[in-house]
Amino acid sequence: MNQAARPAPEKPPQAAGLPQLSVIVPTFNERDNVTRLYRQLETALTGVGWEVIFVDDNSPDGTWDVVRALAQEDSRVRCIRRIGRRGLSGACIEGILASSAPFAAVIDADLQHDETQLPKMLALLQSGEADLVVGSRYVEGGSADSFNRQRAGASALATEVAKRVLRVKIADPMSGFFAIRRDRFEQLAPQLSTQGFKILLDIVATARGNLRVKEIPYSFGSRLHGESKLDSTVALDFLGLVLAKLTHDVVSLRFLLFAMVGSTGLFVHLATLFAALEIFDLPFPESQACGALLAMTSNFILNNFLTYRDQRLRGFAILRGLLLFYLVCSVGLFANVGVAFSVYDQEPIWWLAGAAGALMGVVWNYAMSGLFVWRKQ
Ligand code: GDD
Ligand code: MN
Repeated sequence: MNQAARPAPEKPPQAAGLPQLSVIVPTFNERDNVTRLYRQLETALTGVGWEVIFVDDNSPDGTWDVVRALAQEDSRVRCIRRIGRRGLSGACIEGILASSAPFAAVIDADLQHDETQLPKMLALLQSGEADLVVGSRYVEGGSADSFNRQRAGASALATEVAKRVLRVKIADPMSGFFAIRRDRFEQLAPQLSTQGFKILLDIVATARGNLRVKEIPYSFGSRLHGESKLDSTVALDFLGLVLAKLTHDVVSLRFLLFAMVGSTGLFVHLATLFAALEIFDLPFPESQACGALLAMTSNFILNNFLTYRDQRLRGFAILRGLLLFYLVCSVGLFANVGVAFSVYDQEPIWWLAGAAGALMGVVWNYAMSGLFVWRKQ
């Protein structure tokens, strides 16, 4: 068709009515909080063009259902229901990218953050004074009194590590409350990690000083309903993020964990071999087979618990995963021995050949486990 003959697309009728600010709310089991938050946003953002995008990871309590009902009454409310995925950072990223407003804010659903700061945050972005505005507990006027001692200590430690190791210069890089220009976010998005909790730290570390950041104080309140989803594996996620940022994504925590679990497997193998030979008086081949089987099983359990905790297999899938894991590891053993033999053939140094074989084995097992055992849904 003749391009020139096509009529020029009409301008949208009222660009002024489009939202300036998109508020992103990650939710997991927040059924009792979302309506209240929506009402409070409505009050806080009077006079501002805004929308709110809830990103819900298919909460068992049906949070998404409550959000849908709100959305049916107010077109400024949107709901992204993600199935088969979990993760605070990933949810925030998806929410921001789903909006087309020039500015986006992230706020928790449980009302621990202070939504009355949003107009001020927006104003700082609109005036061009900042690309990123952080709601901070650790600048003059801010507080985190609702924290218990343990949580306060962990937060302080993580903040210190982030500042020193990643040279992040803001007072509260662990905050989950911030607003950002969407165009700047869009540039950084491909390098952000979808795993873990620390999206703000990730943004600031990834930008490497190229964002103009302003911090404004707020008081971290108490949760309205429900409970926190932060648990001890958050520390592991944090470590992973620091590692990835430090090494420009070369070292993945997952691989390190997989290799560490693999080395515990060696101990399990040797201990079983010893017990089978010395205590149960079994012949060597049977003992060796027992050792290998037990080591693979314990590796599988640990990996399912730690290395792939975000994709943990449950119920019947565990059995299927275990059998596949045995299969992957058996092939890995052939790869290991094959490489070790050929290295030894060229250069008869036992430890070099042994190490090359072991490395080949772990890389193979890791790659194949990711493909077949804990594959992303
Ligand atoms: N979609 C989705 N998926 N949302 C999640 C997930 C998830 O896997 N996990 C948690 N959320 C949502 C919660 O429903 C809540 O709205 C918000 O993310 C924060 O989770 P909380 O469980 O309430 O975390 P917290 O209060 O212990 O910690 C928060 O505040 C700290 C201080 O600002 C988080 O925002 C931390 O990142 C932050 O450091
Ligand atoms: Mn909370």
